[in-house]
Amino acid sequence: MKILTQRCTVNGLAYVIRSAIKEDAAQMSILRLQIDGESENLDREKGEGFIDKAGFEKIIRKDADQRRNLFLVAETDGELVGYARCEGSELKRLLHKVEFGVAVRKDFWGYGIGRNLLQQSLDWADSEKISKVILSVLETNQKAIRLYEKLGFVKEGLLKRDKFLSDGNYYDTILMGRHREWKCRDFPAKTKENLLSLECRS
Ligand SMILES: CC(C)(COP(=O)(O)OP(=O)(O)OC[C@H]1O[C@@H](n2cnc3c(N)ncnc32)[C@H](O)[C@@H]1OP(=O)(O)O)[C@@H](O)C(=O)NCCC(=O)NCCS
Repeated sequence: MKILTQRCTVNGLAYVIRSAIKEDAAQMSILRLQIDGESENLDREKGEGFIDKAGFEKIIRKDADQRRNLFLVAETDGELVGYARCEGSELKRLLHKVEFGVAVRKDFWGYGIGRNLLQQSLDWADSEKISKVILSVLETNQKAIRLYEKLGFVKEGLLKRDKFLSDGNYYDTILMGRHREWKCRDFPAKTKENLLSLECRS
């Protein structure tokens, strides 16, 4: 799916939040590689699970086509500096939820980019009547946890000793979710049948 481009200016930095397009693929590959090396908050060390330009072209095409996926980028001065993805499922039992992930280049932290990527993703989720957005976050990533809580996520679970980091210690991963309850009448008629008869409250 796609959203309309949003313009933001925070702390003097002007940037746009928009849906990723095919032409972003090469820059996305480099951006992801860089961000992976900037903290231990994500799963990969720099270079692990590398996705090249062709790989991103595929992901961007798929996310634009699929109703339950969204791929957003933050761009300033022609440069990509952050991204967020929501990934859903086509399986009927899982159709009501999407998983969210976000990353911003370190030299652009603190400009509201993470918050705006998340807010736009949640606005999209609401417009699609998605009733649950889930994410996982490292226990030490307090800035991210606070941001998620401010935007309505609650802690739902804990994966004990989930990550092994460079200091030689194990760390927990926190599972978080943000819920919305949509009524049956909120769904377009043709999707009503497919969507979650269990979940609809009339
Ligand atoms: C977590 C992350 C996405 C946040 O992005 P960001 O653009 O720096 O965040 P924002 O500027 O939108 O700030 C979000 C909130 O954190 C606060 N914040 C920003 N910098 C902060 C800092 N150094 N210390 C404490 N709080 C801070 C902001 O005040 C803001 O709260 P507010 O909206 O109420 O003012 C970013 O740090 C990042 O990509 N980190 C590496 C990857 C990662 O951790 N991804 C998330 C995995 S779950």
